[in-house]
Amino acid sequence: GGITTIDPGYKNTGSCQSAITFLDGEKGILRYRGYSIEELAEKADFLETAYLLIFGELPTKEQLAKFDSDIKSESHVDEDMKKILDGFPKSAHPMGVLSALTSALIAFNPSTVNVDSEEEMYNAIVKLLAKFPVLAAWAMRKKKSQPLDYGDNSLGYVENFHKMMFSKPNEAYTVDKEIIAAIDKLLILHADHEQNCSTSTVRIVGSSHAGLFASISAGISALWGPLHGGANQAVIEMLEAIKNDGGDTKKYMAKAKDKQDPFRLMGFGHRVYKNFDPRAKIIKVAADEVLGQLGIQDPVLDIAKGLEKEALEDPYFVDRKLYPNVDFYSGIIYRALDIPVEMFTVMFALGRLPGWIAQWREMRLNKEPIGRPRQVYTGENLRAFKEVSER
Ligand code: CMC
Repeated sequence: GGITTIDPGYKNTGSCQSAITFLDGEKGILRYRGYSIEELAEKADFLETAYLLIFGELPTKEQLAKFDSDIKSESHVDEDMKKILDGFPKSAHPMGVLSALTSALIAFNPSTVNVDSEEEMYNAIVKLLAKFPVLAAWAMRKKKSQPLDYGDNSLGYVENFHKMMFSKPNEAYTVDKEIIAAIDKLLILHADHEQNCSTSTVRIVGSSHAGLFASISAGISALWGPLHGGANQAVIEMLEAIKNDGGDTKKYMAKAKDKQDPFRLMGFGHRVYKNFDPRAKIIKVAADEVLGQLGIQDPVLDIAKGLEKEALEDPYFVDRKLYPNVDFYSGIIYRALDIPVEMFTVMFALGRLPGWIAQWREMRLNKEPIGRPRQVYTGENLRAFKEVSER
């Protein structure tokens, strides 16, 4: 018998069992491997969060040191990869560059493709965690026509990434601890979110036993869209547009509510969270902190707060349970840290990388079958072919 019911957008379809991330959209709860997002954002660093997500437990001191040094020993990216980077126009979006380079990396690391054992998986995972921030930093350097930086393995994972993005060729590199802590926190908050669009993409591509890097490259493409990770760029562009248009938030609220107008309030609404997004709460506080520490006054933050206040009192948003999501305030922090707008979704990708990896590994270890949804056919019945001269 054929399929008779469908679930567009898989709003009510479970695709797998998973022991990685717990999410309660009604109560606004998010936990990685049983640890609350609030506690991890406060106390953990990104690398140990990555270890936790991927392997299921917080690492001991020794485990973390080994993980860190295994990653560092793989941080070199083949010089020939630069020729691929060079071929892109400067106007290329960094997400496209990142996806393409992640895919290109396969050719230089063929041992990562046919992996079955846990050890083979581990090697592929470590290689990707090591090289991904290098490629992400390259994508930004390309945009700015700046020379590449090879990083410094004496630095921590996030600080090294920051150096690869921001070092200047003729100056010693230094950075405030608060800046690294802020990036660390944002990356942790983005690190996993169960079966979202990009993660489902990673799992479904990986289910054909395409390699880890190919699966992640596809995940990057999925994340790029403005309804998903691309929202963080779209939010800042929207807030800027409102500011340049005289700061009239009411006008944009009306546009968002107008069903004839395709405009949506970017950074608002979520498929699963229907009371609040716990990540947004943490990021809102962090945005105030970071801007305070750096002595920055960003008029766009006031516009964001104004929009949030109006939306939380507006029946349209209240009835549809639309609240600020993770992307609403994150861009304001990235901007304060001098990260270019087109890099925002790349930051999200780096943050989500451990989650994608953990989900890919779980899918392979659980020996899940190839992902292959069904359909309800609505096209023509059988008809006879007509020669082109008769059409
Ligand atoms: N502005 C105005 N109306 C909205 C918005 C919004 N941001 N989000 C949802 N709605 C309305 C929508 O028009 C619909 O109204 P109606 O019932 O009258 O037709 C109702 O709320 C339900 O929305 P939906 O599109 O059916 O819900 P969904 O679960 O398919 O979509 C979403 C979820 C996140 C894609 C959507 O809320 C949206 O497009 N938000 C803006 C983009 C955004 O911020 N995305 C980031 C999501 S969180 C991080 C991530 O995934 O990367």
